[in-house]
Amino acid sequence: MAPRPTAPLLAIVSQLAAVHALQPGTASCGTLFSAPCSSRAAASAIRAVVDDKTEVREYFNTEGFNRWSRIYSEDGEVNSVQMDIRNGHAQTVEKVLKWVDADGSAKEGKTFCDAGCGVGSLAIPLAQRGAQVSASDISSAMAEEGAARAASLGVKNVEFSTSDLESIQGNYHTVTCIDVMIHYPEDKMAQMVSSLASHADERLIISFAPNTWYYRALKSFGELFPGPSKTTRAYLHTEESVVNALMSAGFKLQRTEMTGTNFYFSRLLEAVRQ
Ligand SMILES: C[S@@+](CC[C@H](N)C(=O)[O-])C[C@H]1O[C@@H](n2cnc3c(N)ncnc32)[C@H](O)[C@@H]1O
Repeated sequence: MAPRPTAPLLAIVSQLAAVHALQPGTASCGTLFSAPCSSRAAASAIRAVVDDKTEVREYFNTEGFNRWSRIYSEDGEVNSVQMDIRNGHAQTVEKVLKWVDADGSAKEGKTFCDAGCGVGSLAIPLAQRGAQVSASDISSAMAEEGAARAASLGVKNVEFSTSDLESIQGNYHTVTCIDVMIHYPEDKMAQMVSSLASHADERLIISFAPNTWYYRALKSFGELFPGPSKTTRAYLHTEESVVNALMSAGFKLQRTEMTGTNFYFSRLLEAVRQ
């Protein structure tokens, strides 16, 4: 069970409202508990044909790219909420690197696949440690920004490409997938994990927003206060369902971590082949 963060309740609520995801219907109707309205019905109809991946791809190629490439940088201008998320995400990345450094598994000769790599926040430091890294993202804008950042740092042993993580090719010592599962609904999560696992010879490192009573309550409450900006939908996952998916894919849990700041929360799992 993920530990409950001590962050103020309203702070996390604002994250859910302003940064992550609100159902388009609830956003346009203004409140989660109001009676159905025409815009909500319209949004549901649109949702039926515009699937999550299309929405996510479009978002991270446009407004999401502008927002998240700023958050995922050291000097991009951000507000205080985004600064907190930047710090929380940096902690998750540090935790992955601490695991990797502890067992020296990112040295030359090792291969990594970073699925849903964003702008390379993890892929680049992994490559700087010597590993050969294949980094891909469903958003071409994010992947191209990652490639530009690697080039500006002179890091050559990382390749960025545009790909849905379920279309990745090849096999790697370790597959990482950080803060991407939030874009996958529960009924598609096991397939996502199985797909990632099929490319991992030895280890899988994934993170997700935990579906505990506490975060569920916050998410419901947050949906009462939709932010003005366009977002994608967000999905929480229970640790039990993610661990079950890992086990079904032939992996067992090795190490876990949790990062919870005021506006960011992420449960991190490392699993190895059974
Ligand atoms: C919150 S960002 C995290 C980025 C990166 N993993 C990191 O931690 O810095 C989520 C990323 O997942 C990508 N993404 C979402 N669904 C994806 C999919 N099906 N295949 C590949 N990338 C995906 C988005 O385009 C976005 O860049």
